[in-house]
Amino acid sequence: EKGGHEWFMEKEIHEQPQAVADTLLGRTDETGALVLDELRISEEQLRNVDRITFVACGTAAYAGMVAKYAIERWTRIPVEVALAHEFRYCDPIADERTLVVSISQSGETMDTLMAVKHAHDLGALTVSICNTHGATIPRESDAVLYTHAGPEIAVASTKGFLAQITACYLLGLYLAQLRGESYADDARVVLTELHETPDRIAEVLDRLDRVREIAHFMADTRSVLFLGRHVGYPIALEGALKLKELAYIHAEGFAAGELKHGPIALIEPGQPVFIVVPGPDTPHGLHGKVVSNIQEIRARGARTIVIAQDGDTAVEPFADEVIRVPRTSPMLQPLLTAVPLQVFAMELANAKGLDVDQPRNLAKSVTVE
Ligand code: F6R
Repeated sequence: EKGGHEWFMEKEIHEQPQAVADTLLGRTDETGALVLDELRISEEQLRNVDRITFVACGTAAYAGMVAKYAIERWTRIPVEVALAHEFRYCDPIADERTLVVSISQSGETMDTLMAVKHAHDLGALTVSICNTHGATIPRESDAVLYTHAGPEIAVASTKGFLAQITACYLLGLYLAQLRGESYADDARVVLTELHETPDRIAEVLDRLDRVREIAHFMADTRSVLFLGRHVGYPIALEGALKLKELAYIHAEGFAAGELKHGPIALIEPGQPVFIVVPGPDTPHGLHGKVVSNIQEIRARGARTIVIAQDGDTAVEPFADEVIRVPRTSPMLQPLLTAVPLQVFAMELANAKGLDVDQPRNLAKSVTVE
């Protein structure tokens, strides 16, 4: 049942190209336009949306954080990401022009469900991005956009996460399409490239030997830091979460720009730091800024493990290790850079002899508060 893999998690990591491809499948017409009739919210209602709020927990919330960058760029609609357990116990601003998008692999997470009900009571439109057909959250929502990742059995979410980012992007691109030509142009380029992404993820999966070795060398490590910017920031948070939950190692993710505001004090000789590097063509000169960040921490003795695109030689002078991913446009990079971090956490747990599929104290779906 594990298809020759040692763990369900490993199997699910390898199913990621399929999970993304299946989530895209059947959602475009022959002209390449997105068709999301399944949403069953009128185009007029969607055109009226003036605010989007994601509600989710854990890894699913990181998918929302990634999507915020993309959807704000494509639609110019303000997007907010709320942890569901915070949203449900505050006084959020939402009305009939607010689209509250819940993200939940299981569709049963209690906090996320209660956040959806709270949003519904405020009159918001509620859309569920969910991997489980007929689960409670989609049933309690106005509309649902299923991720088609297939059943996820390992407690730690992997293919569910990539499918969630994909579905969020489809929703954002669809809203862009509804808002008219000028937005749709940009959107179409990304949509085309999104269809090429499963092959690129498969390429990442073919290149995992080095990250496995690094994990095995690091079996005694007590603390690991993760840095990223822009869409790489939630990926840094995800890398840290995976390591905590699977390998029981203290890990923290930071926005690289925060370094000087405190975290750089943590850097001492030998401190391992993963850095998710944006592609050289990322807007706002972000690539150069992250390279400077690597240089700064390396000068203070950090052991830098850099995740960078093919051909990005600028990182090399400051990297103890470089893990390469194929080139892709900036918004699609998270679908590639998340993968080595998943594998790193899994292999480190393996090296420590831990149960990868069933980490201590955790349940697959959190149906209590
Ligand atoms: C981390 C992980 C959790 C879940 C979170 C939400 O690997 O699996 O953080 O992402 O509990 O679960 P769902 O998506 O089922 O609502």
